[in-house]
Amino acid sequence: AARESLVVAIDGPSGSGKSSVSKETARQLHAQYLDTGAMYRAATWWCLDQAINLEDKDLVVATVLDGQLEFSTSPDQEFVRVNGIDVTEDIRTERVSQAVSAVASIQQVRDHLIALQRSIIEAAPRIVAEGRDITTVVAPDANARILLTASEEARLARRGLQLSATATPMAEGAQASSYSKETLKQIVTERDKKDSATTSFTEAADGVDTVDSTELDFAQTVDAVLASVARQVTAK
Ligand code: DC
Repeated sequence: AARESLVVAIDGPSGSGKSSVSKETARQLHAQYLDTGAMYRAATWWCLDQAINLEDKDLVVATVLDGQLEFSTSPDQEFVRVNGIDVTEDIRTERVSQAVSAVASIQQVRDHLIALQRSIIEAAPRIVAEGRDITTVVAPDANARILLTASEEARLARRGLQLSATATPMAEGAQASSYSKETLKQIVTERDKKDSATTSFTEAADGVDTVDSTELDFAQTVDAVLASVARQVTAK
């Protein structure tokens, strides 16, 4: 049977579980999945690869426009390519995480990626799209809009696990275990602070439903998100 078209927009700070929860929500809804953060990361990876000065905004914009992005919108098979180079794993390194805010803060970069994101959302019959400005800027007309939050403590704990999983000594020059609690806190809160200069994602905008995952495990968080989607779709 044909399903009705559906756009679900999810944003939230790092460590809220946004990515894994959005992906599983997409699976459950038989929808595609758009990770907008991966697009900013891929654009940043390309700038780092081209070894350009990230403070030269015009050059960053020109470089980003020159980086042809390809990515999967399947929640089960994620990949990102820039000009044919598979960067699926490289975009998760701390080197990229540290540089991404500088690239994402340039409005022309955002305009370019936002246009791309909107065309993907429009073309998809059903999609769960995730990212910090998705409920407000990219897809304010989504059928369901959710802000996924968690206490700072819970977010730090989750990011710690993620960093241990992705940080390789060779790429980072550091063992995963060498991230002290303080360093971790700095990494997470600094990035959220840098990002919040560009996009606001810590408070729900009008009409955006907040799901707090602090006390929930993964499955419960997905259920809470699905319940919110159902409520919002029925209400409209
Ligand atoms: O969600 P993430 O950590 O993968 O996002 C990577 C970076 O990209 C993050 O520092 C903020 C930025 N970003 C953004 O500015 N707008 C988005 N829609 C998504 C991500």
